[in-house]
Amino acid sequence: RAHAIPNVMHRTDTVDLLRAEAASCRRCPLWRPATQIIFGEGPPNADIMVVGEQPGNQEDKTGCVFVGPAGQVFDRALIAAGIDRSQLYVTNAVKHFKFELRGKQRIHARPNVTEIDACRWWIDQERALVRPKLIIAMGATAARSLLEHPVRIADCRGSAIALPDGTPCWITVHPSALLRLPDGVDMEAEFDRYVTDLRLAVRSLD
Ligand code: URA
Repeated sequence: RAHAIPNVMHRTDTVDLLRAEAASCRRCPLWRPATQIIFGEGPPNADIMVVGEQPGNQEDKTGCVFVGPAGQVFDRALIAAGIDRSQLYVTNAVKHFKFELRGKQRIHARPNVTEIDACRWWIDQERALVRPKLIIAMGATAARSLLEHPVRIADCRGSAIALPDGTPCWITVHPSALLRLPDGVDMEAEFDRYVTDLRLAVRSLD
């Protein structure tokens, strides 16, 4: 057809539509106390999709993914690994900030399986539209969302697991884990392992 819409344009439009639709998500109760939904960001035809856990306090306020303390570790690791963040589609397994109030402070609370399952609706659609060549799951929540069963990060980092549609999924730690390492654990060594995981995953596309 002479007036067919180019594929890339169509896909761009569609991720934007999905984002607009997600703004009124009521699939689980997390929308109610949150400020806004934080949807995925990045090129809608990215080769690589990175999946985190859920937005934090600063993401909830700004509306952007990975801009708070975990985002700063993520950014540092990407620079160390030689990866350009603007080429990545970055999203979360759960798209509203879950927190507990302590006084006026909003303290991060880990999403449960029901919330992860409810939000899989969005990540499945992001995957279908972006069609990444590989996915990097950062942390247990992201891995649980993608694999649909629990895993220990230590058992599966460093190599790819094929998702049911064949997409290779590389699992690594969540950057926030590097901010709360137990005493005695070498932060720089753990950071280097994280960088190595990211670099290995991305290089597997070469
Ligand atoms: N942690 C995440 O998993 N995602 C964010 O966007 C921010 C912090």
